[in-house]
Amino acid sequence: MRDYKQDVVELLASKIDQLDKAEIGELIEVPPNKEMGDYAFPCFKLAKVFKKAPNMIAEDIAQLLEKNETIEKVMPAGGYVNFFVNKASMAESVISEVLSKGDCYGNSDYGKGKTVIVEFSSPNIAKPFHIGHIRSTVIGNSIYKLYKAMGYDAVTINHLGDYGTQFGKLIVAIKRWGDLEVIQQNPIQELLKIYIRFHDEAENEPALEDEARAWFKKLEGKDAEAVQLWQWIRDVSLQEFNRVYGMLGISFDSYAGESFYSDKMDKVVNIMEEKGLLKKSEGADIIDLEEYSMPPAIIRKSDGSTLYITRDIAAAVYRKEHYDFYKNIYVVASQQNLHFKQWIKVLELMGCGWAGDCVHVPFGLVSLEEGTLATRKGRVVFLEDVLSKAVEKTMEIIREKNPDIDNVEEVARQVGIGAVIFQELYNNRIKDYVFSFDKTLSFEGETGPYVQYTHARACSVLRKAGAYDSSAVDFSVLTGEDEFSVIKELERLPGAIEDACAKNEPHIVSRYVMDLAKAFNKFYHNNQIIIDDQKIKNSRLALVDATRQTIKNSLALLGVQSPDRM
Ligand code: ARG
Repeated sequence: MRDYKQDVVELLASKIDQLDKAEIGELIEVPPNKEMGDYAFPCFKLAKVFKKAPNMIAEDIAQLLEKNETIEKVMPAGGYVNFFVNKASMAESVISEVLSKGDCYGNSDYGKGKTVIVEFSSPNIAKPFHIGHIRSTVIGNSIYKLYKAMGYDAVTINHLGDYGTQFGKLIVAIKRWGDLEVIQQNPIQELLKIYIRFHDEAENEPALEDEARAWFKKLEGKDAEAVQLWQWIRDVSLQEFNRVYGMLGISFDSYAGESFYSDKMDKVVNIMEEKGLLKKSEGADIIDLEEYSMPPAIIRKSDGSTLYITRDIAAAVYRKEHYDFYKNIYVVASQQNLHFKQWIKVLELMGCGWAGDCVHVPFGLVSLEEGTLATRKGRVVFLEDVLSKAVEKTMEIIREKNPDIDNVEEVARQVGIGAVIFQELYNNRIKDYVFSFDKTLSFEGETGPYVQYTHARACSVLRKAGAYDSSAVDFSVLTGEDEFSVIKELERLPGAIEDACAKNEPHIVSRYVMDLAKAFNKFYHNNQIIIDDQKIKNSRLALVDATRQTIKNSLALLGVQSPDRM
């Protein structure tokens, strides 16, 4: 695809000796409205150099520049030089690129040869997979797809919470009150139930806590019975999680959770010892971080057992050795900001030169609108229930809108789940947000179904038109205001991906595809597509086809599917 901004840079660089191309490129802006052209060069910085008012400089520069086949007009306006691209040339460049690249439109090989780890979701075993987990899961999956689109070797890791003293408690609870068959039927809820019971009973019988600690010690010591029970708990929990991942269309390259590092911690603790970082405090080994205005990191408890942070340190060291990552990304709620700050600091103190390549990508809280779902026991809202409900409600909406649709179940699944994912990714991730079914599932307004519907509409136009001759397209037909707005949106996808990736912000892509859908719908409402004039018809169909493709690619980056009909 032609880089029109670069054309403007070249044009300017040929006449301005005082700035190099990179400096010019940084100064170039996109004007706030179309009448001012496609790109603008502000002359304020040159005022000192030329000892002239910016508007005079703009006039001089505009005079000097000769338009060419890609830039058709150059106009001074105030302190700016405005550039108008040749619309037919841009239409041709963009549409040809989209249609020839197909599903790969927007991708680049920018990150080739570099490995990026994206760790996300990471639920705790034997605990409910609840609505709060959706954020890490969905944001992480999209960030992974963005890095892949940029050509990185992206790897997904689910750092399962499958280790720690709570397993001692679970083992005690199972041995005392658990019926394996009952648990098997409904693992997470039953395990949660006996886990809660453990805490209730431990209030009256503190010895239970000692028993639990002893079982965790046994687990750490690889006692056969403890390991077997632990393995069983992990397996049944993972089956449940995988059901939800299946609904969301998500899979992981690795499920190396906390337990994976149980034999990799001595090594890092030794490094800490060698570097003289450890201090004794009430029998525990800690790293004092007062100097950095943080509470101490507890590395080993007085009974020798390790902690969450110890495992995270071992995990980072292992990942560096195993993957030699370029970046190691953790998509984890902002409640854990302090944990990750302490962890990075410890890695730095240990002398890990790559600590700066580890990135915590935090996000805000999700809460449910009052009355969204009647909560099951324990006031936990299960993610699976939210997704099922979304599908169910969508099914009703689709049946009403399009009663003749064939595969209503499949479409409702794609739209219902797509809607929840899209809503999740529509705001700056750090913002807290309130989940509402009505807002999420609406076919109007800024929602996933609206974008999916736009895609289905484009597919429907193409179906009705039958085959069109993409070689008989006259791009000069696509220079009207509505058409050209769509073309300019189509052109933005690669840049949106780059920006979203650099900031780890999927919402840049969801906002982008919303703008594209809106521009397309405006074009659709104002223009007839299937008309007698073959040249105009073919040209408009090419635009429809390129839009269909670009929406599909954008939604795929968010983990949202694009049904052909809905
Ligand atoms: N299991 C943790 C939780 O649910 C999240 C793990 C985040 N990842 C990490 N490497 N610490 O709170």
